[in-house]
Amino acid sequence: MAYRAFFGLAREPFGADLELKAILQTDDLLGVQERFQYAVRLGAIALVTGEVGAGKSTALRWCCGQLHPAKYKPLWITASAGSILEVYRQLLAELDCQTASSSRATLTRMIKQQIHDLVIGKKQQPLLVIDEASLLRLDVFAELHTITQFEGDSKPWLPVVLAGQNNLADNLLYRTAIPLASRIVARSHLKAVNRQGMEEYLGHHLKIAGLKATPFDEQAVTAVHQGSGGLFRKANHLARGAMIAAAAEKSQTVTAEHVRLADSEIF
Ligand SMILES: Nc1ncnc2c1ncn2[C@@H]1O[C@H](COP(=O)(O)OP(=O)(O)O)[C@@H](O)[C@H]1O
Ligand SMILES: [Mg+2]
Repeated sequence: MAYRAFFGLAREPFGADLELKAILQTDDLLGVQERFQYAVRLGAIALVTGEVGAGKSTALRWCCGQLHPAKYKPLWITASAGSILEVYRQLLAELDCQTASSSRATLTRMIKQQIHDLVIGKKQQPLLVIDEASLLRLDVFAELHTITQFEGDSKPWLPVVLAGQNNLADNLLYRTAIPLASRIVARSHLKAVNRQGMEEYLGHHLKIAGLKATPFDEQAVTAVHQGSGGLFRKANHLARGAMIAAAAEKSQTVTAEHVRLADSEIF
């Protein structure tokens, strides 16, 4: 793109497909990692909540990436509003297991067998990550705990990390979710960042795209912070749009006006 050449960017900044090593280790992200690891150690459940674009999926990806690949097997599923069968099918796919069955009993048995084989046979610790878990239906929450425990609850072999928007925590308060909710040992909430956090965030992305000095002036950073509400995904769009607007005007400085232009044109 023309703006990349104009600013001398070696690669797309503010992209969605971040490599693990390009992830910024914010205090919130390290807090997620600590609780994530705690729940995994105990074979229990951790919750990660936050607004859309606050960095939940990225934080979980980072946490999974920090686990020793020979010792752990993260099983990542993205929840939908479907039935428990949907969850079981995705989970079996993650376990590299094929089946045409749509019997709940059969799927449960297959999952438990696979988990058993991982833990006992391969000495690998599986962990279930359910992203977008705020979309899960209440009857799915009621059922989910049945695949996490073994031998009459004495063996917590499948720790679970649930990530979703803030209503995830409310959904777990329902009576039917008690068997699951009672195993939650840790919760982290990814907040919107403050202005300084946003400045670091922008600087980080510009640096990994190859820039030594930031083209964003102080007011532009404030405008991105305010316009995004401190949320990273929206900040990505605003920052990229502002750079495109500045490049179109052949301005090496990105100003608050460029951010405003980006805000009105992209959304
Ligand atoms: N720790 C981080 N370091 C760098 N970029 C991040 C980080 N967290 C989030 N992002 C950026 O923000 C975008 C949105 O984050 P994401 O994890 O998808 O949010 P959520 O899952 O909460 O909706 C990502 O695509 C990425 O570009
Ligand atoms: Mg996400």
